[in-house]
Order: sequence, then structure tokens, then C-alpha cells
Amino acid sequence: MNKQNLEDIDTQDYPHLNRGLEGITAFTTSKSSIDGQKGELIYAGYNIDTLAEHASFEEVAFLLWYDRLPTSDELDQLKNQLAAERALPRPVKEYIRSTSREAEPMAVLRTATSMLSDYAPEGSGDGEQDNLNRAIAMTAKMPAVIAAFARVRNGKEMIDPIDRGSTAYNFLYMLNGEEPGEQAVKTMDLCLILHAEHGMNASTFTCRTICSTQSDIYSAAAGAIGALKGPLHGGANTAVMNMLLELDKQGDEADPVSFIKDKLEKKEKIMGFGHRVYKTFDPRAVHLRKMSKALSEETGYTKLYEWSEAILETMKSEKNIDPNVDFFSATVYYSIGIKPDLYTCIFAMSRVTGWTAHFLEQAANNRLIRPRALYTGEKNLEWTPVEDR
Ligand code: CMC
Repeated sequence: MNKQNLEDIDTQDYPHLNRGLEGITAFTTSKSSIDGQKGELIYAGYNIDTLAEHASFEEVAFLLWYDRLPTSDELDQLKNQLAAERALPRPVKEYIRSTSREAEPMAVLRTATSMLSDYAPEGSGDGEQDNLNRAIAMTAKMPAVIAAFARVRNGKEMIDPIDRGSTAYNFLYMLNGEEPGEQAVKTMDLCLILHAEHGMNASTFTCRTICSTQSDIYSAAAGAIGALKGPLHGGANTAVMNMLLELDKQGDEADPVSFIKDKLEKKEKIMGFGHRVYKTFDPRAVHLRKMSKALSEETGYTKLYEWSEAILETMKSEKNIDPNVDFFSATVYYSIGIKPDLYTCIFAMSRVTGWTAHFLEQAANNRLIRPRALYTGEKNLEWTPVEDR
């Protein structure tokens, strides 16, 4: 690969070269606002702290789609629509049954979401309403996909959803095959609220980019799942848990402080820390930290929470870097008995509301997303016949 130095390249045509698009504002949005200095996150006018205290995930989904809170009737209607849409089409169940048990859950979710486009709710001819119905259908079905694969890969039967209870309730019910406890449902609901929307992150940008070509909402969601899967984005929550379990393997010798220092010395990234926008504590991590502490005290298994606090202190003193949403969500999910490789799927089943809200917003005021790349190769080389190379 021939690489030229940036200094040698005439950048006149490219005055805005920003690696990773850092600091670039490419859209207007009414879906969320992040103040990275203050550590503030707002969904369509409401501070995340207010929503964490008062809202349900279904209210948040409505808020993101409509930019306002639902009335009581509208909320009931949304809940009924979600309940009516939860069951999976037979071919999607067959796919989940027949795919490799070793498959990554996020890959299965991506493929199943793509398949769901063949079974989309019937169209009415009103593009916006149809996309909203598809958004609701995906939000309803993604938990069923995740729970079904989680069971099938362990040789268990899939459990059909029930027509009552929330998204959080149904997910835990379908996952574990028993009625979940109130505390577990509350925890899951809060996690879904906290993960629903977050501005122009990589997966939402992917979703809007796909929308901007006038492709369909299922393609956009499948693409977004692909982007979320990576460990620099949503995949970090699974990576955090794997890191804690790696430490746990050291048994009595385990020391979180030297473990982290050692990784930093080797220039490794510590998963669940750092953020492109937040230069302080991620406001979502504040809630997840409280949850993680409460759950560890409730279960009496406090070791992982204590290690997390020690890691947090070490990262602050060594690098002055704060945790992001993925750090404490790992121990929260672990405490309610969820397998680590499902954590990113839970992120996706919540974030699908934010993705689809952005899809609707992009479609309503579309312009093709098409940035430039600064060419660093050579130009006008002489052709060499293959036998002479
Ligand atoms: N551990 C160690 N050093 C870090 C970390 C970390 N987690 N995050 C940033 N740094 C250092 C990095 O090494 C660099 O140092 P230097 O300037 O000395 O080379 C500096 O901070 C800037 O880092 P960057 O990677 O250039 O920053 P970025 O804005 O491109 O990346 C990030 C942001 C989230 C990708 C990065 O912080 C990271 O890789 N974190 C770990 C993965 C993670 O937790 N991802 C979840 C992100 S939040 C939720 C989500 O979107 O899913």
C-alpha cells in the first residue's frame, strides 16, 4: 500500500478533513441533545434523569417517535400494538432453530431483523405511518429474537410472548421461561430507557446514511445492528464483562488496580471507559452505577461491583477518563443472570427506537449523505502488463 504524508497532499479541496468526523455537525435533530462537558443527556426535551425516575420504556419509545409524551390512551394503544406484534413469523423461528449454536447473538439478531422485512406490517400507502408501524414491529420482535436464540442454543424450547406486560417483562419471560420478578423487570426497563437514544453515534449515523439513499427501514436497522456490534460502540458492554471475568479467573491473586495498570502500560483500551462526546461522567453511567451497587448488595455478591469501583478510580487517577454507559451495565445484566454475549443485543433492542426515530426524521427531510475522502495514493501511473509485474 502506497501512503503519502498528509503534508505532501494538496488539501485545498478538503478544508474539513476530520478523522472520525469528530466535531462535524451534519444533521439537525429533535431526538436528543448531549452536553459532553456537563454530562447531560436529553431525549426530545426531557432530561434522562427525569425519564429514569418517571417513564417506562414504552413512553420513551413514543417520545422518540413523536417528540412528545403519549396520553394515557395513546400509551395503551402503543402497548397493544407492541403486544400484537411480538410473535415471530415461522420462517424467522426456523432460521433461529437452524443456525449455528455457536453464532454470535448480534449476528443472529442482524440476520433475523433483515428477514423481518419480508413480514412487515401491511402498508397503508402513507410512507411515514408505514415506517412507524415497522418501527413498532421491530421494537416488539427484537426481544423475541434474542430470547429465542438464547434458549435454542442451549437446547431449550422457544417461549412465545404473552399478550400482557411490558417489553422488559416479556423479554425476561421469553428468556427464562418463568414470570420475572418485579425488581428484575424494573431494572431491565430502566436499562432500556437509558440505552434508547444517543445522538449521532456510529449506529445511528449508519441508520441515517442508509435512509438517505431512500433504502428501507429494515435495511437501516440491520446496518445499525452491524455498527453497534463492534467493541468501540455497543459491543463494549460484553467486552467489559469478559474483562471482569478474566480478572476473576486469577482467583485469590486478582487485583483490579494492577490488572488495569498493566493493560494501560501495554497501551490496551479499557472497555467501558472514554467517549467521543462526554468529557465527564456519562449521565447514564450514574444510574447504572447505582443499580449495580443496589443489585450487588441485594444478591450479596459484591466482588464484581467492588472491582468496578476500583477500576473506575484507577482509570481516573491514571488517565483521567470516566466510565461510559457500557461499564456498569455489564454488572447490572450479570446480576440479573443474563449471559455476557447477550448484553449488546439488549442495547440493540432498546436503541432500535432511537434508530427508527432518526430514520423517520431523516426521511422527512432527506438529503443523500455523501462525504468525501482525501485520496493519499499516487496518480496516473503507467500500466504494467501482468507478466512484467
Ligand atoms: N482506555 C484507555 N485509553 C483510552 C480509552 C480507554 N477506554 N479511551 C480513550 N483513551 C485514550 C486513548 O488511548 C487516547 O490517548 P492518546 O491521545 O494518548 O493516544 C485518547 O484517550 C483519545 O482516545 P481516542 O480513542 O482517540 O478517542 P475517540 O473519541 O476516538 O474514542 C472511544 C472514543 C469510545 C472509541 C474510546 O474512548 C474507546 O475506545 N473506549 C473503549 C471502548 C468503549 O467503551 N466503547 C463504548 C463507547 S460509549 C457507548 C457506545 O457508544 O456504545
